[in-house]
Amino acid sequence: MRVLVLTGAGVSAESGIPTFRGKDGYWRNLDPTKLATPEAFARDPQLVWDWYRERRQRIRNARPNAAHEAIARLAHQTEEFLLVTQNVDDLHARAGVAAEKMVRIHGDIFVTRCSRCEFERHDYEQEDEEQDAAYGVREHVRAFKAATCRRTPKCPACHALLRPGVVWFGEQLSRNELERVEDFLDGGACDVVIVAGTTATFGYIIDWALRGSRDGAELIEVNPEETPLSRFATRLVREPAAIALPRIVDDLTASRSAIL
Ligand code: OAD
Repeated sequence: MRVLVLTGAGVSAESGIPTFRGKDGYWRNLDPTKLATPEAFARDPQLVWDWYRERRQRIRNARPNAAHEAIARLAHQTEEFLLVTQNVDDLHARAGVAAEKMVRIHGDIFVTRCSRCEFERHDYEQEDEEQDAAYGVREHVRAFKAATCRRTPKCPACHALLRPGVVWFGEQLSRNELERVEDFLDGGACDVVIVAGTTATFGYIIDWALRGSRDGAELIEVNPEETPLSRFATRLVREPAAIALPRIVDDLTASRSAIL
């Protein structure tokens, strides 16, 4: 079985991560789709960092839900499998989807990279906090550092501003990751394409779903709401992902065993 899965923020909603366009998405009365932009960062890097820090913390405290686990199960049980996620959280990985079966097309929130040079590191603040804890830095000193020193971190190599390693609106997708999606799509038609928890705002998501499901593959959309992709779906599942996906994966893996 050859399977393509495309996911968005709705898949992590039941882990307590607010979606971008949902009613809980607003942060300090600000629209996330306006914060996740190069313009917002240029105008107020501290504000954008504060938002990402809070999201990082929320993600660290969150756990993968039944939707992430079902997708990981499908990844294990399917030889030709690719997950393309727009989510910058690490919940698919923590549920057990291997890096080689997953493309994180909008990047990784735990990467901190330089806005000018090639410098990049993983999980910058967490490591810093862990180091502080290991060296017994007092709580009020840690709180002070969090409130001041690290609010707009600077690159240790060139002193430009560091930024989260995510793709913002209007930015180019990573060429490497794009190639991985293209290679999978060129590698043959899929039997099943599942699109879960995304408003499918970006043309490339619709394009990949349609190309993956050419030649009569099943195109399953899991989303409580209608999206631009809905009219192309062969099956619409208007339920939360954590309820629908375990059942869909059970059905797919059972029908596969029946064929074998
Ligand atoms: P959105 O916030 O636009 O959409 C979330 C989708 O999930 C909506 O269609 C909801 O109906 C659906 N949804 C909500 N709860 C759900 C649940 N429990 N189960 C299933 N579906 C549910 O998020 P995305 O489509 O992921 O990009 O947004 C795409 C991109 O826009 C993001 O990656 C980000 C954002 O700006 C960048 O930052 C470049």
